[in-house]
Amino acid sequence: MTSSENKTTQTLAQLGISSAEQITPLFAEIQAEFDADASKEFIEVLWKEFRDQWLGRKSGILSRITDNWLKPASPELKRSVGAGLNQLRAHVEAKIEERRLSIEANEEQWTRAHDHFDLSLPGVTRPVGSHHLIRQVFQEIEDIFVSIGFSVVEGPEIETPYYNFEALNIPEFHPVRDDMDTFYIELPKGAPSPLLLRTHTSPMQIRTMEKRQPPVRVIVPGKVYRRDNPDATHSFAFHQVEGLAVDTDITFCDFTGTIEYFVKQFFGPGVKTRFRPSYFPFTEPSVEFDVTCVFCGGSGVSAGGGTCSKCKGAGWIELFGAGMVDPAVYGFVGYDAKKVSGFAFGIGIDRLAMLKYGIDDIQVFFQSDVRFLRQFP
Ligand code: FA5
Repeated sequence: MTSSENKTTQTLAQLGISSAEQITPLFAEIQAEFDADASKEFIEVLWKEFRDQWLGRKSGILSRITDNWLKPASPELKRSVGAGLNQLRAHVEAKIEERRLSIEANEEQWTRAHDHFDLSLPGVTRPVGSHHLIRQVFQEIEDIFVSIGFSVVEGPEIETPYYNFEALNIPEFHPVRDDMDTFYIELPKGAPSPLLLRTHTSPMQIRTMEKRQPPVRVIVPGKVYRRDNPDATHSFAFHQVEGLAVDTDITFCDFTGTIEYFVKQFFGPGVKTRFRPSYFPFTEPSVEFDVTCVFCGGSGVSAGGGTCSKCKGAGWIELFGAGMVDPAVYGFVGYDAKKVSGFAFGIGIDRLAMLKYGIDDIQVFFQSDVRFLRQFP
């Protein structure tokens, strides 16, 4: 405790002061101590402490002089204590303000000296990321279909068996379920319905038709899951784009024409398409679309003169499954199968991207290797 602090905790009587002549030297002593402290180097934080030490409303030295000296002073001393206190307060306040201004000025000077910009220095180049190739292919496909009147919808990756299978005309124990080995989600006992990771984007056909009346023209990009062992063309998580068009007058010609338009836009005008009969429980008839091999131009012969390794000499590559929507499916969504018709398709995006960009292993899409990713800025 400083001498001023010590003295101001006592009354004048306790300090042995009884005459007005003793008051002036007492205040002079306090002011001298203040001046000595005020002349020290300050930074802003210390200045605040110093201000509170002297001017603090509750326990500042000036408040203590008021409480301990002025208030209990005898009538003979009160006038000179009051005058001394006023003079001291004016001095302290002026000095403290003066110090604040000088601290501010110093800081400004420091900032000006240290915090300037050299505009001639090269800037910091931050690497800009880009979309993953799968995302880019999604975008290409979306652009093509949006340009001919389709809209884009998305749906849940966690599905019920009803949407993933039953409403798509795949009842329990249907052999097609074996081709879509499914991840089921462990649920607490008594859960109302089993849940699974959707094995294809086709459940969104049902969800869309439940919500909308024809005409419907949507594509559904998304992630799907199957318990397939990973190899060069299989992954347990992969991507599909579903397509669905339903109206009162959609024909098989609309169907093949739309697919052909898409394939030519996506691979270029040089490719040809063909379709072969296939089977899906939710389309009838069902087809598999093939495209002329993008590597050998459909000749089946590689640039070196040997058999094309990508299409194994066939000149065709299988692209995706599709078909006219099976009337049984309309029954699940309350559409009148006698009045409406339509087509649907489901494109495996990873394999499509592999074909277009000459990638021979699907696993590279999931390994986050920047050497691979950088090739598709
Ligand atoms: C289906 O999933 C149907 N939902 C497609 C469909 C939709 C048909 C609408 C008719 C109407 P499929 O099981 O064939 O069909 O799978 C579609 C595509 O997904 C395949 O052509 C293939 O490109 C891709 N695919 C299937 N399994 C895998 C896998 N494990 N890894 C990567 N791609 C796969």
